[in-house]
Amino acid sequence: MSTWRALLEDAERTLGDAGLPTPTIDARRIVEEAADQRDGALALVVEEPAPRLAERRVDTMVKRRRQGEPLQYVLGSWSFCGLDLFVDPRVLIPRPETERTAEVALDEAARLGLRRGRGDRWRDARGEELVADLGTGSGAIALALAGALPDAQVWGTDRSGDALAVARANLAGSAGPATRVRLVQGDWFDALPTELRGRFRLLVSNPPYVAESEVADLADEIAGHEPLDALVSGPTGLEAIERVVAGAPEFLAAAGGTLVVELAPHQAATVTQLARDAGFVEVRVERDLADRERVLVARGGEAGD
Ligand SMILES: C[S@@+](CC[C@H](N)C(=O)[O-])C[C@H]1O[C@@H](n2cnc3c(N)ncnc32)[C@H](O)[C@@H]1O
Repeated sequence: MSTWRALLEDAERTLGDAGLPTPTIDARRIVEEAADQRDGALALVVEEPAPRLAERRVDTMVKRRRQGEPLQYVLGSWSFCGLDLFVDPRVLIPRPETERTAEVALDEAARLGLRRGRGDRWRDARGEELVADLGTGSGAIALALAGALPDAQVWGTDRSGDALAVARANLAGSAGPATRVRLVQGDWFDALPTELRGRFRLLVSNPPYVAESEVADLADEIAGHEPLDALVSGPTGLEAIERVVAGAPEFLAAAGGTLVVELAPHQAATVTQLARDAGFVEVRVERDLADRERVLVARGGEAGD
């Protein structure tokens, strides 16, 4: 029987020899997963023998990673805004940029009065304020919003039934807030009941925004493993954003609702103009952690501050 340390060293060597860029991190995450010991806890058991079954699991995960499969799919889970989400090749792996999108959306929720103070966070949660995550994929943004907004009912939509199956699994694995998330299938706003037109306070989306001509520039790890439907929008890369921006005013509350959309930095000026053309009164683009323009915030109605 090998110790966890021996498995760790073997995994690191194998992944390093395969030319992967971060073999130490990858090996550690794989062994932590097999040992069910995270956040430094592996150190406490590292000299102990690993059960045979765990050893085989490490072996399988290392083989998959060595063949270029993203670490997140190999592990089967990834962290997003403090949530531990199940991910597999049916959904896009939630990105740090999208954590920023969720953060911007939550700031906007606070401005709209949808966020509570710390003291009364969960008292009499009503789930009456309508919020949507369009193109929810794994359910990452929808669950982050539901977790932070006790009064929100969050609609998570996606065209892909496969993606919604993953989102459903994440709802099932989450505590209370998931009961205020409803998942519906359909093409952008077609997925939402028409009687909810004019009632949403916040619409959030991370739509596909890569152009077909840019696919060749994507890393193999992305293009070869993640669902291209979730990444690629069409010839210009703006097709999905155009649909979301054009459809949003009809579903937002007339007396103050906000659209928050993730975009590629080079699309910022064009999308700002699209939002103005769609009738939004106050439009800006927030930056991501790498200081690139990343998140459109388009406010409609009369609730500007
Ligand atoms: C960039 S991924 C975002 C996934 C997830 N929200 C996240 O941020 O990690 C875009 C999502 O939009 C969905 N999608 C693509 N075209 C769509 C359409 N026409 N209507 C609704 N959803 C669509 C894809 O299936 C995918 O799940």
